[in-house]
Amino acid sequence: MVLPKQVKLVEVGPRDGLQNEKQFVSTAIKVELINQLSAAGFPNVEAASFVSPKWVPQMADSSEVMEAIRRCPGTIYSALTPNMKGLEAALAARVDEVVIFGAASEAFSQKNINCSIAESIERFRPVARAAKDSGLRVRGAISCAFGCPYQGDVPVASVVSVAQMLDELGCDEIDVADTIGVGTAAQVGTVFDAVAQVIERSRLSGHFHDTYGQALANILAALQAGITIFHASVAGLGGCPYAKGATGNVATEDVLYLLDGLGIETGVDLSAVVAAGDFISNAIGRPNGSRAGKALLAKAAATV
Ligand code: HMG
Ligand code: MG
Repeated sequence: MVLPKQVKLVEVGPRDGLQNEKQFVSTAIKVELINQLSAAGFPNVEAASFVSPKWVPQMADSSEVMEAIRRCPGTIYSALTPNMKGLEAALAARVDEVVIFGAASEAFSQKNINCSIAESIERFRPVARAAKDSGLRVRGAISCAFGCPYQGDVPVASVVSVAQMLDELGCDEIDVADTIGVGTAAQVGTVFDAVAQVIERSRLSGHFHDTYGQALANILAALQAGITIFHASVAGLGGCPYAKGATGNVATEDVLYLLDGLGIETGVDLSAVVAAGDFISNAIGRPNGSRAGKALLAKAAATV
């Protein structure tokens, strides 16, 4: 089994995680979480989302959050931008990378961003161009690449086709996302191998949710398929407001425990992430969703 020596871990908890919380999480808590994650050594933190506050009220303070965080030199701070209005706000907030987010499922595209896949690509075109003109990195996310809550099965050809369209818009990285956490390890190999026919593997990332408990197995399958960028959410925060029943992203602490055990370098300090996971779980009154995080906290408490 040949595995990569190094992986880029993108912490998405402050955005993908918190966007789903019903109770508004204060700006101060969001800022403290991002500061703790920056200090833990992540090369990339998804920190904000410039979407309609009517659609996702939790992210309404994204400008204030970006203004208040302590930025680590070299860390990329990303934000979601579904349209030009979002991009303008992201530019004003001095983000390093914007994320345009489409879907491999027509039904999900309508529910999530209120337009068809083809319309979304046309909407993203000026966003990607303006972002590039301003020197920003651009990431393209493909939701429902392994299954859709509305449509069910999603053909692999749809994932490949959306990946190709995002690539043509100039995306630096393409996120292949299991929005509702239904994918299995064999499917992961099939989907990544198919997308890799049209886009280099080094530019593809795996974004797994853990609804069916398959996320770590899927990450291992993706590592075996040569994927070296993964998204994860501290304390397993999250879900998607437009994918009912989907649980959070795979917990970052669990992914780090896996990668550390495999001897794969990330540059991220597991104990600092465990502390950040404990902080945010307590701050928002939610059980910690990381198995490794809870085990390490219990171990630390037992040795005091
Ligand atoms: P729409 O209603 O079709 O848009 O929504 P519109 O252009 O007609 O605008 C409607 C209103 O929203 C207007 O305000 C706009 O000004 C405002 P009004 O005149 O009614 O007062 N508006 C905005 N306000 C702030 N920032 C903006 C913005 N755009 C419009 N950028 C739209 C279309 C795309 C805006 C909407 O559907 C939307 O915001 N959707 C976001 C949904 C979302 O954030 N979902 C979660 C993120 S995706 C995800 O989590 C999956 C991912 O993690 C990968 C995975 O797991 O699969 C990425
Ligand atoms: Mg997600």
